[in-house]
Amino acid sequence: MSQPFDYSGRSVFVAGGTSGINLGIAQAYARAGANVAVLSRNQAKVDAAVAGLSEHGGSVLGFAADVREFDAVAAALASARDRFGELDVLVSGAAGNFPALATTMSSNAFNSVIGIDLLGTFNVLRAGYDHLRKPGAAVITISAPQSSIPMPMQVHACSAKAGVDMLTRTCAVEWGTAGVRVNAVIPGPITGTEGMMRLAPTPQIEQLVTDSVPLARYGTAQEIADCCLWLSSPMASYVTGALIPVDGGWSLGGAAQMFTEMRRVVDNPDLLAGYGSSS
Ligand code: COA
Ligand code: NAP
Repeated sequence: MSQPFDYSGRSVFVAGGTSGINLGIAQAYARAGANVAVLSRNQAKVDAAVAGLSEHGGSVLGFAADVREFDAVAAALASARDRFGELDVLVSGAAGNFPALATTMSSNAFNSVIGIDLLGTFNVLRAGYDHLRKPGAAVITISAPQSSIPMPMQVHACSAKAGVDMLTRTCAVEWGTAGVRVNAVIPGPITGTEGMMRLAPTPQIEQLVTDSVPLARYGTAQEIADCCLWLSSPMASYVTGALIPVDGGWSLGGAAQMFTEMRRVVDNPDLLAGYGSSS
């Protein structure tokens, strides 16, 4: 398909952009001509992502930092702005997840997911705001169906992503007069990702997921990226504060159905090993 969006000379920062969906987003902007910066904790993942993104011809920057550490996030964003100029697009997608019951999850385990997903998103948006092009910048948070659908073994992610949705909508309200749009993309089950490997680790559970999606398949990182390319373009100039599912219709009810299978685990904790969880 020919490139429908031209981001030549634009600057894009993707927090958590070194693997999975977020890397797919970073790649899509790079292919569309943007200068792209990515950030995550693992230096080897950052280096690999930078090497791959550089093949598209734009400038690429990588930062090894934890989104829970405000000063490190702020330094990375300031550095990207120094190199690229004001940021046109800021994507916040770093997240952590594992299946675990609320009754056995430790306080620190709950806090780790709240810290990465919710505090991390706040840090990225808070530190990023000063470096955004005003007017004109677009901010995109990466949420999840858990933000509105209660799911067993997801008390941490449900709580964190619900917070991400409200953070997104609140910033949209506060930043609108500065000409900054803030929206969330809510991916459904995306093929080949760490997230789905953790939540649907067996072929049987994968099939349950597929069966519970109205479009009857997993989505791709490219399909999430396509929505981001549109959302940060002039084609979406009147869209802000929106929470947009890109999920094959999964959030219409299927997501909850799929997790009915997981509910069996609540009554049979011995089954939890099958979901790759430790407690
Ligand atoms: N079940 C229950 N508790 C778990 C767990 C699991 N599968 N995995 C980790 N924890 C607990 C740990 O035991 C620890 O709690 P404790 O101190 O009471 O023992 C707490 O979570 C924090 O673990 P730690 O490994 O120190 O956290 P971290 O901040 O280094 O890593 C995670 C964060 C746990 C979310 C890790 O899985 C991660 O880095 N994930 C990123 C990739 C990912 O999740 N991708 C999918 C995105 S949707
Ligand atoms: P992934 O590949 O594990 O991506 C997570 C990214 O965040 C990685 O680059 C990871 O790199 C980084 N990261 C994790 N913790 C971090 C931290 N503390 N600080 C900085 N970076 C950190 O997962 P994914 O499955 O593609 O998920 C990507 C996003 O989509 C997440 O927001 C997730 O909630 C959302 N989502 C996914 C699905 C799905 O089907 N997979 C569905 C709905 C929503 P490092 O390990 O190097 O830090």
